[in-house]
Amino acid sequence: MPDTTSPTGTPAIDIDAFLDAQDAKDQLRFLTCGSVDDGKSTLLGRLLYDSKTIFEDQLSAAETESRKFGTQGDQVDLALLVDGLQAEREQGITIDVAYRFFETDKRKFIAADTPGHEQYTRNMATGASTAELAIILIDARKGVLTQTKRHSYIVGQFGIRHVILAVNKMDLVGYDRAVFDAIVSDYKDFAGKIGLTDIRAIPLSALTGENVFTPQTEMPWYDGPPLMEILETIDVRGDLAAEPFRFPVQWVNRPNLDFRGFSGLIPSGTVAVGDPVAVYPAETASRVTRIVGPSGDLDRAVAGQSVTLVLADEIDVSRGDLIAPAPAAPADAGDNGNGNGEAPLSADQFAAHILWMDQEEMLPERSYIIRFATASAQARVTDLTHRLDVNTLDKLAAKTLGLNEIGYCKMAIDRAVAFDPFGRSRATGAFVLIDRFTNATVGAGVVDFALRRASNIAWHDMKVDRALRSRALGQTPRMLWFTGLSGAGKSTIADRLEQRLQAAGKHTYLLDGDNVRHGLNKDLGFTDRDRVENIRRVAEVGRLMVDAGLITLVSFISPFRSEREMARALMDEGEFVEIHVDTPLEICERRDPKGLYKKARSGKLKNFTGIDSDYEPPENPELVLKAGEKSVDQLVDQILEYLNR
Ligand code: ADX
Repeated sequence: MPDTTSPTGTPAIDIDAFLDAQDAKDQLRFLTCGSVDDGKSTLLGRLLYDSKTIFEDQLSAAETESRKFGTQGDQVDLALLVDGLQAEREQGITIDVAYRFFETDKRKFIAADTPGHEQYTRNMATGASTAELAIILIDARKGVLTQTKRHSYIVGQFGIRHVILAVNKMDLVGYDRAVFDAIVSDYKDFAGKIGLTDIRAIPLSALTGENVFTPQTEMPWYDGPPLMEILETIDVRGDLAAEPFRFPVQWVNRPNLDFRGFSGLIPSGTVAVGDPVAVYPAETASRVTRIVGPSGDLDRAVAGQSVTLVLADEIDVSRGDLIAPAPAAPADAGDNGNGNGEAPLSADQFAAHILWMDQEEMLPERSYIIRFATASAQARVTDLTHRLDVNTLDKLAAKTLGLNEIGYCKMAIDRAVAFDPFGRSRATGAFVLIDRFTNATVGAGVVDFALRRASNIAWHDMKVDRALRSRALGQTPRMLWFTGLSGAGKSTIADRLEQRLQAAGKHTYLLDGDNVRHGLNKDLGFTDRDRVENIRRVAEVGRLMVDAGLITLVSFISPFRSEREMARALMDEGEFVEIHVDTPLEICERRDPKGLYKKARSGKLKNFTGIDSDYEPPENPELVLKAGEKSVDQLVDQILEYLNR
């Protein structure tokens, strides 16, 4: 899983590092998932209780709690040992991921208890990305539910290959074999379609403990091992050391002028002193000259170890780069995007499966922060190919993804990044998407394959450039971006400003929402998704005009902060001037120059800004124009004064 340092650079709690610090050899990380009331917490509580990990004081706390909130009468409610938060106790559901540690004499266990409640699928994905095995709980009385399918799909997507199907509450169905068999066959049907093959089904009762630690006699028809025995013996690790070597650089270690090394954790493969390697995405070749471990130099290091590598050459390496075996042959991977041999991919476009985890829907063309292992960049979904119905696995046409929806899409990043198809490497093939404003994780995804297209297009530096053009025109090009509600006065002010600039001998162009929508953006309407694309296009066109040396006025409602920031990011420092035409909705509505507010209020016009579509006011605009209070000329003076400063 990509690391959890926030995009602002503040280190957050790094679960991965913590987990990795635990001895990797005899440890199993698993995930429990199921729907509300399937008994996950009770099962975990049972595992903790029977493995004697629970200390006296916790137990007596649970006893007290049981009397308050428990659902098990006078018995100790094991679920209360696991459910940590007051809120969830009161609602009787599990929220957020809780990691539990326990051990038997054979193995150590880290269990991620994740929520079954529909809206908390994101936490499940978080748990899944660090787990090696999943216990999928099913209430024997209910069978396979939508949630079971969704969770299984996510489990598969995040690369968990081993599933234990725990058919719980067998005591409540009279230990009936037919019930168990029907559920197992139902589940295997679905699991086969999503590529989950290692499935072990156990009939059990978390409440009574039957088939959790000890086999029991109520179900003589079941001759398999109890749950704990599987957990203690299953081989999930395969051979990570035998996989291709990957080393995402976490930081450049330069304590003094004589030493420069690259530190991080080896998620897969083996590296030895003398190995030829390359630094991706630049694909600069070098050789490993030293491997420094926590207690000195090593000849060799393997998956699971944290080390510092020293290379033979003084090459450019920074956080987010990937050190891996050198490419086999020059770019012979062609367009299939699957790379070749042992080398990772360096690309700025790829196809991926994503799980959307935010209340606010995913909008194609909106820019998000993407994080791959230790690398981060700006990314956008360029095409949403389809959305998946997790029940039927049907591919549905979709324009956006809502909370908990899974889609297949093409993505573009603002620079080349090194990664792998997820099928080849779990550590370097998974990514998360982060909202640029809230820093919240809004999506998680896995790479299917790289799209090589953009890598074949190079930027051509022309002899006549922006500086030369602006010198010839005798002016400093700018992008004056007017944003505000419909009827706020944007176009009127921009029009008057352009006249004044022309009168002063300036070269200008005015891009106006209504006008551009007659041509270039004729195909776009007013859904959030279309508005995002509307602004992306006009920002690109505006950039070309600024490049041409013009003072470019852009007058669009541009209701979303994210797209205005994207436009700003296209420009050089100081070139972008955000002008908030801040006219209260009541005044705009009273003016209603095109009669659109009236139509919107009467329901004849949908998605109208300020009525049933959002307007996000700028947080730090260069200028705020109080267009309800001042005359057009006063406002134009205000802008000119700013520009002359
Ligand atoms: S934006 O939101 O995508 O930036 P843009 O500035 O291009 O909008 O277009 C806004 C103009 O389209 C408004 O001035 C108005 O004349 C017209 N319009 C038609 N329908 C709508 C609507 N649903 N919401 C806002 N403006 C609309």
